[in-house]
Amino acid sequence: FHANDIDYDYLFKVVLIGDSGVGKSNLLLRFSENEFNLESKSNIRVEHAICSIVVDDKIIKGQMWDTAGKERYRAITRAYYRGAVGALIVYDITRSITFENVQRWLKELRDQTDQNIVIMLVGNKMDQADLRSVQTEDAKTFAERENINLFMETSALNTLNVNKAFTKVLTQIY
Ligand code: GTP
Repeated sequence: FHANDIDYDYLFKVVLIGDSGVGKSNLLLRFSENEFNLESKSNIRVEHAICSIVVDDKIIKGQMWDTAGKERYRAITRAYYRGAVGALIVYDITRSITFENVQRWLKELRDQTDQNIVIMLVGNKMDQADLRSVQTEDAKTFAERENINLFMETSALNTLNVNKAFTKVLTQIY
């Protein structure tokens, strides 16, 4: 089947948030290019990718929202979060500041969405091991303390854990 097929059993909105430059767009592109279609809709200032996975013979469609760099201008609005049932909060393992800011993103997310939302903390750019400044254990501990359901390190560059991360979030929502 194709991502654009109208047949599906579930449709879930998932938002990507995190500081500029952490790799949100590339994660989404990697995920959707490998197996799915990317749809861009610049009119509403975000990019969407529709992705489908199959779980228990059910077609689960994920409508992934990417901020497309607009977080710089604080243009993320209620509309961006509205109806989201999943979220990936992305930081860059080579830049501590992006990890420190996760707290802020988490607060905004929790203020704007239903408390049952499935959240995954994502440490991206794990291919840059020699530049690492955020330790895996620290991120894990933080996620547990903040009741973030899921944690994963990824690389959009070498594809490590990318499909796994998105699939896990969609499966968990389901
Ligand atoms: P905004 O669009 O500003 O919100 O940034 P973004 O979070 O969408 O980041 P983007 O995907 O544009 O990536 C930022 C930079 O990081 C680009 O130069 C990417 O090539 C690079 N990058 C993204 N993911 C990875 C990764 O997994 N590893 C490495 N080494 N570089 C990456």
